[in-house]
Amino acid sequence: MLAVLDTWWGGLKGKAGSTERALLLPRLYFQHFTTTSFLVERDSGEVAAFLVGFLSPTLPDTAYVHFVGVDPALHGHGIGRTLYRAFFGLAQSHGRRYVHCITSPENAASQAFHARLGFEASAVQPDYDGPGLDRVAFTLDLCADPAATP
Ligand SMILES: CC(C)(COP(=O)(O)OP(=O)(O)OC[C@H]1O[C@@H](n2cnc3c(N)ncnc32)[C@H](O)[C@@H]1OP(=O)(O)O)[C@@H](O)C(=O)NCCC(=O)NCCS
Repeated sequence: MLAVLDTWWGGLKGKAGSTERALLLPRLYFQHFTTTSFLVERDSGEVAAFLVGFLSPTLPDTAYVHFVGVDPALHGHGIGRTLYRAFFGLAQSHGRRYVHCITSPENAASQAFHARLGFEASAVQPDYDGPGLDRVAFTLDLCADPAATP
């Protein structure tokens, strides 16, 4: 998965962006969050899409999408939406009402995608993830949006 990040993100934010993305997927996600994450592979075994998510241990009504990506060759075919719907179903089956996630202000595609899925976006939050790491935060209320259910 690490090998596809720069290509799939189109080199967004250059070298700094590349480092930021790689640090988002330490091994612990593949050890402790596999039952709430999804991987889509081609017949060849190559990665086609992924969604890394978890049920918030702190907020009992909330699930969190940590990282999502779809091979650019497959964009616009509903794979991102299908992954989210699968995660929404999983979240609901564990009694979770809200889904949270974040993105970079520079990632216009991600903001358009999340808006289309019904997420509400915050204003840009300066230094959200540390100095210089601004973020937009998204929230979806699964009870308020019947279209979001699988
Ligand atoms: C964002 C991303 C996951 C979307 O995946 P996708 O499979 O292409 O999205 P879908 O085909 O399921 O699209 C779902 C809806 O979002 C809309 N959408 C998706 N990408 C969009 C874009 N770049 N601009 C505007 N709308 C977009 C689609 O038009 C669709 O709306 P519809 O109801 O009109 O059909 C994909 O573009 C991606 O992997 N981007 C690079 C990685 C990234 O930025 N990840 C998110 C931040 S961590």
